[in-house]
Amino acid sequence: MSRLNFTLEKEASGSSARAATFRTLHGEVKTPVFMPVGTQATVKSQTVETLKATGSSVLLANTYHLLLRPGPEVFKKFGGIHNFMKWDGPVLTDSGGFQIFSLPGERVMNEDGARFKSYVDGAMFMLSPESSIGMQKTIGSDIMMVLDQCIPSTAGYAEAEVAMELTHRWALRSLKARGDSPQALFGIVQGACHHDLRKKSAAFLRELPFDGLAIGGLAVGETHAERYEFTGLVTQHLPKNLPRYLMGVGTPIDILEAVHRGVDMFDCIIPSQLAQRGVAFTSQGKIQLRRAVYKFSEAPLDAKCDCHCCKNFSRAYLHHLVKSDELLGWQLLGIHNFAFYHRLMREMRQEILHGNFLAYYERMRPELMKSDE
Ligand code: GUN
Ligand code: ZN
Repeated sequence: MSRLNFTLEKEASGSSARAATFRTLHGEVKTPVFMPVGTQATVKSQTVETLKATGSSVLLANTYHLLLRPGPEVFKKFGGIHNFMKWDGPVLTDSGGFQIFSLPGERVMNEDGARFKSYVDGAMFMLSPESSIGMQKTIGSDIMMVLDQCIPSTAGYAEAEVAMELTHRWALRSLKARGDSPQALFGIVQGACHHDLRKKSAAFLRELPFDGLAIGGLAVGETHAERYEFTGLVTQHLPKNLPRYLMGVGTPIDILEAVHRGVDMFDCIIPSQLAQRGVAFTSQGKIQLRRAVYKFSEAPLDAKCDCHCCKNFSRAYLHHLVKSDELLGWQLLGIHNFAFYHRLMREMRQEILHGNFLAYYERMRPELMKSDE
């Protein structure tokens, strides 16, 4: 039996979009949902209070980083990440599979797991399916991810097949390591951009007692068209009665396209990373606050947004903060970008529930592709 009590509330017509709810150890989640990335047990530039005010309901944290620093002993001392960072909502932890592959540095992969050098102090670490689950238990996340082998999505068939099969064997070991823990566990579909591998991976994982299934290995080198195609292909082969999570995606338009193809959960560093660079998503498109045209602008960032940033500050002030590289600029634009993302997710959910998603999708597609460039 699933640990998340997943309820599919409504399926859109003319679209694979769905609205659902599920219950974690730290509260209910309504989907489609966007999860801000809190790699180091903090969402960069934000506090728990600002996150809550923007509408964040679930945060993502990274096993890889938290294993290296502060390390498991600190989480044991504090009884888990919720008490440590004072976030009382749900937390999902990624397993480390993606970081082992994507971060620079030495690593050796074998059947057992991956050996790699810590970027903190150069010490050697080993991450196996069992030790990743062990660390995720110690972190005390609500949703754990299996250790997987994420390779570039442009990988050839033979390489992608080997990585997928290793990921499947690791999925079985991860389930065994989870044991009777009340924490939920998601499997991860791999297979790069090869149709029959993606189908095979979904078919294999859906027979196992996972509480949700993720699509991994996308947004790592493929075109947008391929990303949409493979997202749609995989969701067609996933069970309807489990949450579906597209890992590491994406921009607002990527998320709209993926919801249309049946995805429920997302995480991405984009809203925070672009905020750091002075870029905001608004109802009139993407805006670069560095541009001189905003130097004297008394207008709010987005007249259609009720976030703390838009209610209180002018574009001129934000332009100044960004140009001066002030931390407050990052924080305020972060608040706005998260509010924008969460509003998009809420709107999609409402449109699905009211039977109007397809019209919303058609209307929003061009809107989300606008920018001030
Ligand atoms: N984050 C983005 N893509 C992936 C993936 O393929 N695997 C894991 N574990 N995390 C990811
Ligand atoms: Zn705003």
